[in-house]
Amino acid sequence: MAEFSKGLEGIIAAQTQMSFINGQEGILEYVGIPIGELATNSTFEETVFLLWNKRLPKASELDTFNKQLRERYALPAGLQNRLASLPTNAQPMHVLRTMVSALAMHDSDPNSLEIDDVRLKALNILGHAPSIVACFDRHRRGLNFIDPDPSLSFSENFLYMLNGEKPTKAMARAFEICMITHADHGLNNSTFAARVVISTLSDIYSAITAAIGSLRGPLHGGANEGVMHMLNEIKSVEEVESHVLGKLERKEKIMGFGHRVYKAKDPRASELQTLAKQLAEDTGNSALYEKSSKIEEVMEREVASKGIYPNVDFYSATTYHCIGLALDLFTPMFALSRIAGWSGHVIEQLEDNRLFRPAADYIGPHEQPYVAIDKR
Ligand code: CMC
Repeated sequence: MAEFSKGLEGIIAAQTQMSFINGQEGILEYVGIPIGELATNSTFEETVFLLWNKRLPKASELDTFNKQLRERYALPAGLQNRLASLPTNAQPMHVLRTMVSALAMHDSDPNSLEIDDVRLKALNILGHAPSIVACFDRHRRGLNFIDPDPSLSFSENFLYMLNGEKPTKAMARAFEICMITHADHGLNNSTFAARVVISTLSDIYSAITAAIGSLRGPLHGGANEGVMHMLNEIKSVEEVESHVLGKLERKEKIMGFGHRVYKAKDPRASELQTLAKQLAEDTGNSALYEKSSKIEEVMEREVASKGIYPNVDFYSATTYHCIGLALDLFTPMFALSRIAGWSGHVIEQLEDNRLFRPAADYIGPHEQPYVAIDKR
């Protein structure tokens, strides 16, 4: 019998051509292109095309892809009504998970696994998801829904539907860089969840729904909200040292630090740090950035020797806050972007499927007597 690996650490359970990670050196590439290059030069839409096609698009191909995505910004009418009837205290990640699942009911052929169909369904989910989040956020604030604007990019349109006004170029680009850097990341927990579900030959809606459920956890995508809670708890830069040391002493995790794969600084954290610093200066949030960078300094001194460095969630918290997003929208933002990666993995899995069915190491007793209920 194969060796047990708690948390499947070190187990290679799938092959992918999308993202490459070198955790020792802190390298992340999408289809061979370093994440920094994409964050500097690419758009989110082009990055999605790259992940789904394993090559950069020609200009005409990108135009077609953009057009197809923009046609899908508008939600089916029934779904809008459902959103408008949700309790206003619902959590956005629960709303997103439930509404992505509900999209299957607005698809006349939700179970098709033909690859061309699955790609269109993936586009559907990617196009609709920002509208779901924006409409729900407006619903809970008692505001009318804003119709999508197909002349806008994915990032611009989301911020427009959320705020009712077009974002500045700088804000839209900052948000887009977040989308690019979160789009795919090897066989992380939620991606694995998506692949496990589709490996039963279920459907893409079920796979993405499962992935959203996985991402919500504080050890995964939920950490960005945990980081913001921590930054809010720490009242000043002077408090950082004692706060962090206290947590470490109590063996509590510092959210936004550590990674199963990276034992160096997550390259996405480096990209987002630069962005967070600039945005914090531009939006009068420098104190937030200073607290973050002091936390990093203390952590570097205390635990870098254990390979614990900032991960993608650490500086994304400051970035999202500076963009003006409500705290409980941070993890949904991760999800909006990661739909790209999840969908690409669903397609890869279907192209060369084998049912995931690992074994469990039974460690309970054997040959026990059955004791009648009145004798227990
Ligand atoms: N703060 C303090 N100590 C930590 C941290 C942290 N953030 N992360 C790991 N450690 C310590 C941990 O206490 C343990 O120490 P010891 O060996 O003395 O018991 C050691 O490092 C190994 O930790 P682990 O939890 O067994 O490692 P793992 O590979 O199972 O966990 C992790 C990886 C991401 C779950 C973990 O680092 C963590 O809980 N981080 C905080 C949550 C977080 O930021 N998650 C986002 C991950 S990146 C985005 C994504 O892909 O979702």
